[in-house]
Amino acid sequence: MTAEMEQLRARIADELEASRSRTAMLADAVDDDDLTRQHSTLMSPLVWDLAHVGNQEELWLVRDVGGLTPIREDIDHLYDAFQHPRRDRPQLPLLDPGEARAYVRTVRDKVLDLLDRVPLQGRALVADGFAFGMIVQHEQQHDETMLATHQLRTGAPVLDAAPPPPRRVPVGGEVLVPAGPFTMGTSTEPWALDNERPAHQVDVPAYFIDAAPVTNAQYARFIAAGGYDDPRWWSEAGWRHRMEAALTAPMHWRRDGDGWAYRRFGRVAPVIPDEPVVHVCFHEARAYAAWAGKRLPSEAEWEKAARHDPPTGRSRRYPWGDEDPAAHHANLGQRHLAPAPVGAYPAGRSPLGVHQLIGDVWEWTSSDFGPYPGFAAFPYREYSEVFFGASYKVLRGGSFGTDTAACRGTFRNWDHPIRRQIFSGFRCARDPRPGEAD
Ligand code: AVJ
Ligand code: FE
Repeated sequence: MTAEMEQLRARIADELEASRSRTAMLADAVDDDDLTRQHSTLMSPLVWDLAHVGNQEELWLVRDVGGLTPIREDIDHLYDAFQHPRRDRPQLPLLDPGEARAYVRTVRDKVLDLLDRVPLQGRALVADGFAFGMIVQHEQQHDETMLATHQLRTGAPVLDAAPPPPRRVPVGGEVLVPAGPFTMGTSTEPWALDNERPAHQVDVPAYFIDAAPVTNAQYARFIAAGGYDDPRWWSEAGWRHRMEAALTAPMHWRRDGDGWAYRRFGRVAPVIPDEPVVHVCFHEARAYAAWAGKRLPSEAEWEKAARHDPPTGRSRRYPWGDEDPAAHHANLGQRHLAPAPVGAYPAGRSPLGVHQLIGDVWEWTSSDFGPYPGFAAFPYREYSEVFFGASYKVLRGGSFGTDTAACRGTFRNWDHPIRRQIFSGFRCARDPRPGEAD
């Protein structure tokens, strides 16, 4: 076996271990009653996520890659997200916490065993360790979902992390991105998922994009200016939703004297002014942007700001270059359980000087979730293809809850425009005024 293959196997083993220790931490933080309870009809009981990540690992790695006999075929339907919507999952005869922990252990033991012997080349599913990378990302995605469930649970705080780093440089204003083509998506990133492929040229007219995500202080000014009461700033669907859901502020915000406080993982604290706003839906983001005289960036505009390197014309893996994310680049991986203030990650800025595109908060874009030209579903239609269409908006860049394994300059997330239990914020963009882009 070549040294390169050895290295790939070791990296896969490390990533599998990292995702499992986070899953275990998020599950073990609460008692069995809490694990099996539904904290919001938007979310599964945590014990469902736990067994579901094991079941996906069994389907793809034990059965498909390994060709081994099934361990628990009888439970497949319980953990198939398409058979039972989240609100119905607590009523299912799910594995109890002890059974779920034993099941994921059994699956993982078989996977570590087969990782030593399956070839990581040839078949597309295993080339470059793709199936393992897909399963690592899947578990990390559910770890972010489990973290969002933690944010919705009531009761005493159970999670702890170091506070994010402070502002290191002043950041504000907007950056001009000159007109021209850039390469969007990827055909070379080995663990990129089907919806990020293939790489293709997109010609983007000149635009301005904010150097930082919209902060709590900025968002609070929109509220104070009556932004939630003025239909001028909202789309028709957005205004309808604002009225039906009685939206008046981001989720988890409450009045605190003449300011605001928010509840975060069970603790209530005054809102930090220079932190990116989080827990807003697409409609709120769009309304803020209209009030500010701007708009949301399209997905192509977001990615060009994040990846395009003007001197070379290349698209890079991340705003800071091609190196994997390290702690000084971005607020990722649940190292901190909050977004960092703007200006906290100067080392992560893009060549054009756009900050905090990766990490902190997912950023809503104006784009519907759709296929790139030449898209091919791989390895299953239910990862991306069945969600394509106008029901979902794309979010980019990852949040403090997203792991580095599940975050890239090309990574695409999506959700319904009314959702805000996720760690979602935004930044604004706008067209240049006559003469401004010359
Ligand atoms: C990419 C975050 C929208 O959680 O619904 C998890 C990821 N797909 N299991 C989701 C996913 C299958 C997905 N998102
Ligand atoms: Fe899943």
